Amino acid sequence: MFQTFANLYGVHPFYMCIESDSNTHGILLLNSNAQDITLSPNPSLTFRTIGGILDFYVFLGPTPENVVQQYTEAIGRPHFPSYWSLGFQLSRYGYGSLDVVKKTVDRMRQYGIPYDVQYGDIDYMERRLDFTYDKENYAGLPEYIQQLKKDGMHYVIILDPFLSKDEAPGTYRSYELGQEMGIWVNNSDGVTPAVGKVWPPGDSVFPDYTNPRTADWWIQMCVEFKTVLDYDGLWIDMNEPANFGTGQYPGCALNDLNYPPYVPRITDYSLAQKTLCPDSKTYLGDHYNTHSLFGWSQTPPTFTAVQKATGKRAFVLSRSTFVGSGKYAGHWLGDNFSRWKDMHMSIIGMLEFNLFGIPYIGADICGFLLDTTYELCLRWMQLGSFYPFSRNHNGEGQTEQDPAVFGAEFAEISRSTLLIRYTLLPYLYTLFFDSHVHGNTVVRGLMHEFTSDHQTHGIDTAFLWGPAFMITPVLQEGARSVEVYFPEASWFDYYTGDEVPASWHRKYVSVDAPLDKIPLFLRGGYILPTQAPATTTTRSRLNPFGLIIALDERGEASGSLFWDDGDSIDSIEKEVYFLAKYTFSEGQMRTNIVKNGYRGVDSLIYNTVQVLGVTSRPNAIVLNGNVIHGKDLQYQENGVRVVLTNYENDFS
Ligand code: GLC
Repeated sequence: MFQTFANLYGVHPFYMCIESDSNTHGILLLNSNAQDITLSPNPSLTFRTIGGILDFYVFLGPTPENVVQQYTEAIGRPHFPSYWSLGFQLSRYGYGSLDVVKKTVDRMRQYGIPYDVQYGDIDYMERRLDFTYDKENYAGLPEYIQQLKKDGMHYVIILDPFLSKDEAPGTYRSYELGQEMGIWVNNSDGVTPAVGKVWPPGDSVFPDYTNPRTADWWIQMCVEFKTVLDYDGLWIDMNEPANFGTGQYPGCALNDLNYPPYVPRITDYSLAQKTLCPDSKTYLGDHYNTHSLFGWSQTPPTFTAVQKATGKRAFVLSRSTFVGSGKYAGHWLGDNFSRWKDMHMSIIGMLEFNLFGIPYIGADICGFLLDTTYELCLRWMQLGSFYPFSRNHNGEGQTEQDPAVFGAEFAEISRSTLLIRYTLLPYLYTLFFDSHVHGNTVVRGLMHEFTSDHQTHGIDTAFLWGPAFMITPVLQEGARSVEVYFPEASWFDYYTGDEVPASWHRKYVSVDAPLDKIPLFLRGGYILPTQAPATTTTRSRLNPFGLIIALDERGEASGSLFWDDGDSIDSIEKEVYFLAKYTFSEGQMRTNIVKNGYRGVDSLIYNTVQVLGVTSRPNAIVLNGNVIHGKDLQYQENGVRVVLTNYENDFS
């Protein structure tokens, strides 16, 4: 939730600064204690922490991307997500029954909206108890998950980090085993478990994931539960850790840990607000010191559990994160509101988490709290189609907001925007490969690419996928145009291929954005791999590839494609992948196959090549020695786009 002086879900004491000469540096204060950070116009920045050591790291850049590469080299590179997890995802708290889920899935299909992942929030559980499912309202869920999988979809379930201690003896094994193993966060005596109140009926205890025994227990529980619900990924929530009261029962004792002399400007000025008392004991030490590591410590065992359970690349989505969490998990920005300003803030959050080494990031599309509106949700679907983690998620009791519920017009607009996402997924996936291997951001602010252009530094209304694709969403109610800033480069309208006039460079220009359109631009100098879209990635992965070659003012461009089976645990380490580098210059495109280790590409073809920015009509196109002409070669009369279709060229 974005609120002034409210606690955040995670801690990332890292900043990046572009100095006046455009050299960029980053600073990390590796410290997990409660802290606040104050900015002043000097400019200056003050870190105030109430414990730990002053462990500073300096990253010298000199470019913004260098800083992030260096930072993630130090803290751990982002994990490599599976291909399906780049598809569109749908969730809500409070479907209430499997019937409602089925109706939702059916209407998504009726409108052919691309959609890869369905979620189960806590209402799939029996009385909100981890490792159970509701056999009444969700009767048939195991079978339904199988059905979804047959249709090429995936299913992710939520798990919370607290277990009810008040179930009848002999009926709740995960609690009883945990109790036997002594794995809970303890009270200040270090022996009795801390007891709080969260979702389940009765009271709950909290697994202490800093304890290696807890990791063993958790992995065992998650792996066993896979035989009950055949999930593909785990969503770990409430892991700040959240508790509904101020501290556990009976409240926090009066001492220096619970009431230190300085308390950062957090909600109620209370360290125990909606969590446990700071003097609680974890394996690693006082909760005072380890509070901000709770979600972080839950993440690696969850990652291991999902890998073990599924035998595939792990999908873990965590609400609380700390320095280094990106190695094991993605993140969503938490409980936002269905408000225009929250939609705008999501861009800032997404840019920040790309700096923090957690590029698999997105916000709840259409908003979590409050009822959304048609127009807000439609604009948010357009923006969210370009979140790296693209999920529409809704709060309990709010009106339905999946993209199929608002009727045909809304569904068609969402469908067409998501089809663009799916078309560009090979480009997005290649960016994630780069991020995993070299530590680049996936989504980045314009200042990363146009650092010396000071006008780009404050832009938080537009963003780029990698260096080459600019997304400029509508963020205001009623607006039918967007003020877009075009840094000095060649830019092409994604929809028409028309080049943006040079007179627009280094200026804000009003661009048309009727309700059915999010303005999108390709940057000259880059080659983007594409694939014909489908309603799931399972299907789209079988379709022909394409290339968008957007030329710069010298008529040159370059790019790459990473491809593998999409979900093996270590295709990169085992070199079971395909990697091609493309370069275009002097009217010729060359492919350099850097790695040819994935046989799955042998059956794939390219059949669409678009070249944007061609200044005169070509006499002929020669592809691997064959001259192409006739209907397979389209030339747009304004002289900028050559489209080559229906030509089946393999990857050799
Ligand atoms: C928390 C999560 C939210 C989830 C809800 C119920 O509020 O942030 O995403 O839907 O709990 O599990």
